[in-house]
Amino acid sequence: MFGGKDHIRVVNNHLYISGADTVEIAERFGTPVYVTSEDRLRENIRRYHRAFPDADKYFAVKANGNISIIRILAHEGAGADVFSAGELYLARLAGVPREKILFNGNSKRDEELRMAVTSGVRVSVDSEEELETLSRIASEEGKSVEVLFRVNPDISVDTHPKIATGLKSSKFGIPAKSVKSIYEKAMQMDGVEPVGLHCHIGSQILDVSPFSEAAARMMDLAGEIAGIGGDVKLLDLGGGLGIQYDPAASPAPSPQDLANAVLPVIERRSEELGVRMRLILEPGRSIVADTTILLTRVNVVKRAHVTFVGVDAGFNVLARPMLYDAYHHIVVANRAGAEISDKYTVVGPICESGDVLARDRALPVVERGDILAFLDAGAYGFSMSSQYNGQPRPAEVLVHDGDMELIRKAEDINALLACQVIPPRLV
Ligand code: LLP
Repeated sequence: MFGGKDHIRVVNNHLYISGADTVEIAERFGTPVYVTSEDRLRENIRRYHRAFPDADKYFAVKANGNISIIRILAHEGAGADVFSAGELYLARLAGVPREKILFNGNSKRDEELRMAVTSGVRVSVDSEEELETLSRIASEEGKSVEVLFRVNPDISVDTHPKIATGLKSSKFGIPAKSVKSIYEKAMQMDGVEPVGLHCHIGSQILDVSPFSEAAARMMDLAGEIAGIGGDVKLLDLGGGLGIQYDPAASPAPSPQDLANAVLPVIERRSEELGVRMRLILEPGRSIVADTTILLTRVNVVKRAHVTFVGVDAGFNVLARPMLYDAYHHIVVANRAGAEISDKYTVVGPICESGDVLARDRALPVVERGDILAFLDAGAYGFSMSSQYNGQPRPAEVLVHDGDMELIRKAEDINALLACQVIPPRLV
């Protein structure tokens, strides 16, 4: 009914997630609230394991930084792609082993590089200057750090321009033509040991062919580096596999489709070059997006030139519609089996006219007090939320076999003051 999501069902006109009634969840934990299916989460990572039995999967922590979620993934054997000291801290706390963590980033602070060095994780180096800084910091610490090089492969993908990352004009990575000389330089430097290549071409990609193109380019580079005596032990192809947000759209490619697109390219080129390397993937969205729904309550239905439904979550809670014109499917959770009745424009409580979560959406009758469920909110949902307009961030709940557990308390009003300081002269 909802595009192959077995964990989401309609029972007695209510929306259920993994056996739990979402209307009851909203009553018990309040709204807005993010609700995650543990079973789906485990299934999603297992799908990657089945498709890529010999590759490491580093969950992209930016997609969802909840420690319980990262911990479940760590128990399932996943590593972590971290993009800041904060994400590294979360991943370590969640129990991800250091040897399965890659520290990414295009603009890392010295303290972040130092934390990477002292934590013993690998670093994806984004520029020659960063390589020099890292080498200095690692030498100061008396350590050696394994590095991959983030390659900008100049590959165009059909996604929202704000989330295409492999283009020449993108801020990420080292131009492919400069990688060989930087690798060679690193081979001579103290404190750094070059062990691999990394790329990430973009996010929400629904056609697997750019991934095989990227794999081919990366293998060419690996060949060049082997030619200068470099050892490329690790090849990290990043994340980016898209999901089906709209149940009426075509299904998204699966991890198996991705495997079918990239593995033969890698195998063929590895044989030709006589090299053997370990593949790393960094999926974020395709692991967590469909595990989670956002429940929000209707504060008002206003019949103006269009019919507005005002809910208690705005772009402070779910930024994707505002930022990328993203589609999130909506279900009226307490009337989930009802027929479509009208078109509604669903808006949040934020003081900006751009605070629109869905425009002209066909829904059953919507009334004040109803609960709306936004599907596929597990990736870049809570992790991109803010306190704008004095709005404390919402709770997160984990559902397992019908049981509901709080995995993040809702912030209260004190959270708005948490780090504020009143200088004595203003008291
Ligand atoms: N690896 C690197 C280096 C990345 O930059 C990203 C995402 C990933 C992995 C994970 O990509 P995924 O599998 O999730 O596509 N906020 C945007 C998406 C930004 C993606 C940033 N990088 C959104 O809500 O669509």
